[in-house]
Amino acid sequence: MSARKRLGVLLSGRGSNFVAIAEAISSGTLQGAEIAVVISNKADALGITAARERHLSAQVIEARERKRSEHDKEIIACLREHRVDLVCLAGYMRLLSPEFVRAFPQRILNIHPSLLPAFPGLDAQQQALEYGVKVSGCTVHFVDEQLDHGVIVLQKTVPVLEEDTVDTLSARILEQEHIAYAEAIARVLSGKYEVVGRRYLPR
Ligand code: GAR
Repeated sequence: MSARKRLGVLLSGRGSNFVAIAEAISSGTLQGAEIAVVISNKADALGITAARERHLSAQVIEARERKRSEHDKEIIACLREHRVDLVCLAGYMRLLSPEFVRAFPQRILNIHPSLLPAFPGLDAQQQALEYGVKVSGCTVHFVDEQLDHGVIVLQKTVPVLEEDTVDTLSARILEQEHIAYAEAIARVLSGKYEVVGRRYLPR
């Protein structure tokens, strides 16, 4: 049997996407993967507490006014030390340096709470509400050197209702995020795809 692929999860806050990935692994929904390390740039991130509760390697690597590339160098070293095959950004609210992206080519995934290319950046759910779209959702994509821009692995949609607030819409999207991330990780780890231009094509 082949060895399980090792995931490195980066987060900054609540960590519900991390927990969803961890649960998909323990329930067997996401097979052939294990979480090698969870890294937070914030010491008080709830996600890091959740990682410790699960007895996973949980590291806090704060930016401490260092240059982005210096901070990222430390994270890259930690990911390498843990022999990470795939990096999963799960609410990691910091841009990655080009050096980071190049260190893990096509091996960094991000989840974003909108149907990209609509509403990149911060407060995607609020942007969607204010714009008046009738459908929104989430996107799992490879990370490239531009913000919320890389090749899209999968998207899930949700309706935007007349009575929605940012909170109700965010909750509806989050439910789909938790399903989408594990699914996208499984697809990528299977290796059964090719990327043609911007298109992710299953084989
Ligand atoms: C999620 O909604 C994720 O899509 C979003 O932050 C939230 C993190 O929640 N990420 C971004 O907006 C990245 N641009 P979580 O900490 O509970 O997983």
